[in-house]
Order: sequence, then structure tokens, then C-alpha cells
Amino acid sequence: MRTQVGIVGAGPAGLLLSHLLALRGIDSLVVEDRSRAYCEARQRAGLLEDGTVKLLREVDLAQRLDAEGLEHGGIYLQFAGERHHLDFRDLTGGRTVTIYAQTEIVKDLIARRLADGGALEFEISGTAVAGLTTDRPVLSYTTAGGERREVVCDAIAGCDGFHGICRPSIPPGLLTVRDRDYPYAWLGITAEVPPSTDELIYNRHPDGFALHTMRTPQVSRLYLQVPPDDRIEAWPDERIWGALQRRFALPGWELKEGPIFDKAITPMRSFVSSPMRYGRLFLAGDAAHIVPPTGAKGLNLAVADVRVLAAALAERCSTGSDERLRAYSATALRRIWKAQRFSWWMTSMLHQFPENNVYQRRLQLAELDYVTSSRAASTALAENYVGLPFE
Ligand code: FAD
Ligand code: PHB
Repeated sequence: MRTQVGIVGAGPAGLLLSHLLALRGIDSLVVEDRSRAYCEARQRAGLLEDGTVKLLREVDLAQRLDAEGLEHGGIYLQFAGERHHLDFRDLTGGRTVTIYAQTEIVKDLIARRLADGGALEFEISGTAVAGLTTDRPVLSYTTAGGERREVVCDAIAGCDGFHGICRPSIPPGLLTVRDRDYPYAWLGITAEVPPSTDELIYNRHPDGFALHTMRTPQVSRLYLQVPPDDRIEAWPDERIWGALQRRFALPGWELKEGPIFDKAITPMRSFVSSPMRYGRLFLAGDAAHIVPPTGAKGLNLAVADVRVLAAALAERCSTGSDERLRAYSATALRRIWKAQRFSWWMTSMLHQFPENNVYQRRLQLAELDYVTSSRAASTALAENYVGLPFE
């Protein structure tokens, strides 16, 4: 079997890459070890940068996003018993962010690839990549029906997330890893209750960070900072609502409660592996880098990576020139490191660190005070949050 680009992973990175390539007349095959239903239901990110929304519009993937997405012109920062609003429209010349869940983007992408006749295989197993330094790399896997396949490609895209097989297929010693673990995790819930706020609330509290976000006008999503080794069984619904009520409490404001239908604990990590290329294998999205979710950058970075990669692969196919492919890793990493910095900064400013002394806690409050009282400082937050311009 033969395809131009073999894509491992049907997350946002892999699916969008195959669509961007198809628009340029390049054929690809996407292989995914989970089921379609699992990929479409996996609760993850929810917030899209201005540039991500514009890109999805440009490539005709925004019909439902435009109908159902919730456009937000700012966020709230809550600390020391007060809630402050940052007005992104005012600070960034009219730019905004949009709440539209990753589950919905994945559903839209899968539906579109299938409608366009794209090759997409779910529930495969035994994924392997070989011949990466030759000009005919091979993607092999076993289909859901048990048939072993070997697909000869011009290039392979490793879009298989943090735990995938593509990054570990690069020989040891060739990759540099820069990472950082945080001494806490996020407990996330989705609840059947209208959001108690019009825009997201990022909340620093002595008990720990909390975030109020949303999925639809009927569905709220909330997060709590918890110890890194905490187990979800230790958090019955009443305990979760009790902790959220304490952290968000503000005179005259009420946090509405409702049935919780999804809850999970996610560790927090910053991680960058470089370069994002080995021969004819190109890594994109979580396969190459992870950010803590405080800046809402993970999904947006995956989109930015494949935007650069699709253009570079297309140039190679149409002109034979390798120039943009050779620049892919460096180009993507410039944006990735800025998003790493922003996510680390937001995380550090808003969470309780067990090792922090009173002096460090006081510095966090001074930073928040500065960000909410200086136009220069709030502009710096706003332009990173809505997304830095594409290169
Ligand atoms: P993924 O979405 O991980 O997709 C990779 C795909 O590859 C998966 O479908 C996987 O099943 C498949 N795969 C893996 N191994 C193989 C294999 N061997 N063969 C075939 N297929 C394989 N970001 C935010 O901005 N906000 C959030 O609130 C947030 N919450 C998150 C919660 C969790 C639990 C996780 C894990 C991530 C979260 N993120 C969040 C990050 C965001 O969801 C990711 O950055 C985004 O999913 C990256 O997309 P991706 O396509 O690169 O990787
Ligand atoms: C979400 O909606 O899940 C979300 C939004 C903003 C974040 C993290 C998660 O910073």
C-alpha cells in the first residue's frame, strides 16, 4: 500500500493535518488505536485562540463552531477576595477567544474527512514506523479486522500525543528534552448547570487554584488544584462543590451547582522535545510538547504546528524543495517556547506551591495586582492569551 503522508493519531493535530493536506491535493492515511466514539468523547481542552478560529474558518471547518461557539472578549482574575476583568477586545485591538470543546472539533474533523473520502482507520493496533531516514518510510499496523498492513509513505507525521510511539522511535541521544513537573494536579468536572459567569474566572485562593469555564450555555466546566497523587475516589461530588464554593466565594455572587457527569484528575507538566524531525518523521502537537493547561495553549499549539507542517509538506510535493521542511522544527519551536513561557507564568502566578514561603506568596499577589492595574501588564497577558500572530 502507498500514501503520500502517513499520519499516526486522530487527535486534533492528525485530523487537521490530513484535512489541510487534502485541500492541497495531497493524500494521507490517518491511523488511530482508539475507537471513533472514544476520540469524540474524550474531555480535554475547550478554548480556542483567535488565530485558531480564523484558520478553521479559512479551511471551511467552522460552520458549527460559528453557530455554537461562545465568543469571549476577556477573562476574570480573582484573588485576595476581589474579581477583576481583563478586556481583551480593548487591549488587543478587537481580538477574542472562543469556547468550543475539543470533542466538537474532533467530531467536525472526522465527519469532514469521511465526507471528503479521506482514509481514516480506527481501532488499529501494533503501530510501528520504520525506514525513517530513507526516502520511503513505512507505517505498519494491524487493522481492526486483524489484517497486518505496511504502508509506504513519502513522509510520516507523528501526531500520536504524549504517550504515542513516534517520539520513542527516534534513536536515543538524538532528542533533547526540557521539562518540568508541577507539585499539583487539576481535578476537572463537567456539570449539567448553566455557567455562573459570562467569561472564564481564573482564581488564586489560599486553598489552591480554581477555574470556572464552560462548554455550552447549559454546561459548566470547573477545575480545582489538588495534590499530585490525589485519587478521584477521594472526591465525591459534595466535596468538589464544597471546595469550589469556598474558592470562588464572593459577596453577591452565587456559584450554581448541578449534576456532575464527568470527572478526572490530570497531572501538570511542561515538556519540550526537540528537534521535531528525524529524517522523514515529523512530530506535531502533544507528541513533541506539553504545557500545563492554565494558559489554554495545548490544543492551539497542536493546530499551529500542523499549519506550518502542512505548508512545508505541500511545498515539498509541488516544487520538490525541502527548504520549509528543514525549517519546520525551528519555526514551530519559536511559538512553542513562547507558549511554554506563558503557560508556566500563568501557572506560577495562580497556584499554591507547597514549597512557597510567605514572601513568595506575597510576590504572587503583587504580580496579580500589577497585571490587573497596569495597562502594559494586562496587554502582555491579553496578547499571549488570545494567541501570538502566526509567523
Ligand atoms: P492528542 O489529542 O493526544 O491525540 C493523539 C492521538 O493519537 C490520540 O487519539 C491517541 O489515541 C492516538 N494514539 C496514541 N498512540 C497511538 C498509536 N500507537 N497508534 C495510533 N494512534 C495512537 N489543553 C488545553 O488547552 N486545555 C485543557 O483543559 C486541557 N485538558 C487536557 C486534559 C488531558 C487529560 C489531556 C491529556 C490533555 C489536555 N489538554 C488541554 C491538552 C490538549 O487536549 C492537547 O494539547 C491536544 O489534545 C493535543 O492534540 P494532539 O492531536 O497533539 O494529541
Ligand atoms: C477549558 O475550557 O477546559 C479550559 C479553558 C481555559 C483553560 C483551561 C481549560 O486555561
